[in-house]
Amino acid sequence: MAKRALITGITGQDGSYLAELLLLKGYEVHGIIRRASTVNTRRIDHLYVDPHESAVRLFMHYGDMVDGSRMSVLLSEIRPDEVYHLASQSHVRVSFDEPEYTANATGLGTIRLLEAIRQARLDCRFYQASTSEMFGSSAPPQNEDTLFQPQSPYGTAKVFAHCTTKNYREAYGMFACSGILFNHESPRRGETFVTRKITRAVARIKAGLDEHLWMGNIDAVRDWGYAPEYVEGMWRMLQADEPDDYVLATGDGCTVRDFLAMAFDAVGLDWERHVRFDERYLRPSEVGSLIGDPSRAKVAWGWDPLVRTPELVKIMVNADILALESGGHVIDRPELPGWA
Ligand code: NAP
Ligand code: GDD
Repeated sequence: MAKRALITGITGQDGSYLAELLLLKGYEVHGIIRRASTVNTRRIDHLYVDPHESAVRLFMHYGDMVDGSRMSVLLSEIRPDEVYHLASQSHVRVSFDEPEYTANATGLGTIRLLEAIRQARLDCRFYQASTSEMFGSSAPPQNEDTLFQPQSPYGTAKVFAHCTTKNYREAYGMFACSGILFNHESPRRGETFVTRKITRAVARIKAGLDEHLWMGNIDAVRDWGYAPEYVEGMWRMLQADEPDDYVLATGDGCTVRDFLAMAFDAVGLDWERHVRFDERYLRPSEVGSLIGDPSRAKVAWGWDPLVRTPELVKIMVNADILALESGGHVIDRPELPGWA
């Protein structure tokens, strides 16, 4: 019988790739979506008409991480074998504007889900989407033993969710894992995260539609990988013999400035002629440098990402140029073996 997976945050970047991957692996996939006044399923609509006949194996349910009773009903009804908890208010800058909501959805949302699993007495495996943002001001390279020193309401909410996941593993013997993922990007990345903001702007400036791009702190260092490889890591984490926490990262650091230079260079433009500073994009406290050490995942199950930041930049710039030329939304196929 096919395994049954539940994905919270299925409409997001990672949720859409993960749903695709699990359908390719033969899973029955259930996703929780929020009711919105506009369509919010743009990243997963193509999965309903997939040639692998995934339509009959993909099911959507309305729900929200702030609604605990709904979580209990859904978990009892779906009874999944694996739960991938990806739903979160995931924007660091926005978390300073909405700290209480971020703590509720991102922090308490995780405990609502874990309690729903526990009370339904489900024997299922649980994945928590933890983040390098939890390391905050701790110096790189960061690994599973690095001190958490979060610098944002988002980071503190994720530390709460991370520690709660560990507590449910230790207190109740649940197979609960946290993936501490460093930044991972793709053509499906939300438009207000820095990489996608840059690659969209490059496409528009190249086409003559815009002249300038307004940016905040371009000295920040991040470790940018390719999202499809990271969701494959999430799946592997839940197939391990024992539950544990793992860092997923490329191990390479790159400044926002260098990302800008590579993206503009990909279309033959000089970034310094087009980029302007706007203090509105600064954060009240900033995480200066995140560079991960993914040795544990590499040793445990050979996870070793193929796509490094320079290639990622080209994938994203090319996708945004294609989307602009086609006059709208184009869904990418991950540029990896086995995903075509
Ligand atoms: P994303 O694109 O922003 O997607 C977030 C998802 O969460 C969306 O499906 C969103 O639904 C859903 N969501 C938000 N608030 C919710 C709520 N109150 N109830 C139910 N669903 C809610 O994020 P992502 O990049 O795919 O990241 C996936 C997860 O990994 C997040 O938890 C993020 O914090 C974490 N993470 C991401 C990275 C990264 O670099 N991408 C790194 C480390 C950790 P709507 O579509 O309706 O908004
Ligand atoms: N978004 C944004 N917009 N960031 C900018 C800008 C801008 O105009 N200008 C400079 N930056 C800098 C930010 O200050 C930050 O240092 C860096 O670019 C990356 O910003 P984001 O792309 O917004 O990502 P993030 O690192 O804050 O958070 C992402 O990665 C985390 C993992 O480390 C999100 O995906 C989080 O959900 C995730 O946990």
